[in-house]
Amino acid sequence: MSGTDRVLLEKKEGIARLIINRPEKLNALDGRTMQEIDAAIGATGADPAVGVHIVTGMGEKAFVAGADIAELAAQSPVEGAAYARRGQDVLVRLERLGKPSIAAVNGYALGGGLELAMACTLRLAADTAKLGQPEVALGIIPGYGGTQRLSRLVGAGRALELILAGEPIDAREAHRIGLVNRVVPAAELPAAAETLARTLLTRGPLALRYAMQAVHEGLQMTLAEGLAMEAALFGLTCATEDMREGTRAFVEKRKPSFKGR
Ligand code: COA
Repeated sequence: MSGTDRVLLEKKEGIARLIINRPEKLNALDGRTMQEIDAAIGATGADPAVGVHIVTGMGEKAFVAGADIAELAAQSPVEGAAYARRGQDVLVRLERLGKPSIAAVNGYALGGGLELAMACTLRLAADTAKLGQPEVALGIIPGYGGTQRLSRLVGAGRALELILAGEPIDAREAHRIGLVNRVVPAAELPAAAETLARTLLTRGPLALRYAMQAVHEGLQMTLAEGLAMEAALFGLTCATEDMREGTRAFVEKRKPSFKGR
C-alpha cells in the first residue's frame, strides 16, 4: 500500500484501489482529499500496469458522505464557483481516464459522494448503502456534477425528485432506477468489485477505452453524429493488434492476450 493520508492507493495485478480515508468524517471530501484523488488518478491513469480502478470508502459506514460541509460553509460566491469547478474537473478526469472505474459503494454516498460514484464507469452497492443528493437541505445545489450526471443516468424526472426532496434512497431502490449496476451483501462488496475488475482486465483495453468514449461523447451528440463517431472508433479498433489477437484467439479457441496496442 502507498499513498497519502486522505487517499490510500493499493495497486495489485492491474487493479488500482483508491480508498477515501477519512472515516472519522465519514470520508467527506475536503479540498485536500480532492487534490489527493486527483494526484492518485493522475499517477494510475498514466501507469500502463493499471487497467481498472476501484474507488471505495474506508470503514463500514460511508463511501463518502459528501463534500466537507464545514469547508464549503466558508465559501464566498466567487470561491464557491471555483470550488465546484475544481471538484468537477477532478471528476471529469476520473470519468475520462480511458480506463474503467468501479465505485464500490460501501455505505453513505451522499452529495459529493454520489457525484464521485457517478463519475465512475460502473457502480456496485452494498445492500446497506444509502445514496442521495441532499444539498438542498443545506440551501445549496449539487456542485460536483450531480445535476448533470444524475439526470443522464436515471432521467430528469427521477433526478429532480432525488435532488429536490433531498431524501437518500437505499441500494435496492438505487438499483431499481438504474443508479447502481448491482447490489451485493455488504460483506461481499470488495470481492464482487474485484471480480468485476478482473473481468474487465480480460477485455481489450483499447476496446474498453473507445467504447467508453463512444458512450460518453455520444451523450452530447445527435444520433446521427453519435453513429458516425461510433463507426470511426470501430474503424480505429480494426487497426489495433488487440483486434487481430482477439479475433484470432476466438478462431483458435483460446483466451486472447491483449497488449493495449
Ligand atoms: N462534511 C463534513 N463532515 C461530515 C460530513 C460532511 N459531508 N458528513 C459527516 N460528517 C462528520 C460529522 O460532522 C461528524 O463529525 P464529528 O464527529 O466531528 O461531529 C462525523 O462525520 C460523523 O457523522 P455523524 O453525523 O455524527 O454520523 P451519523 O451516523 O449521525 O449521520 C449522516 C450520518 C451521513 C446521515 C450525517 O453525517 C449527514 O447527514 N452528513 C451530511 C450529508 C450531506 O448533507 N452531504 C452533502 C454535503 S454537500
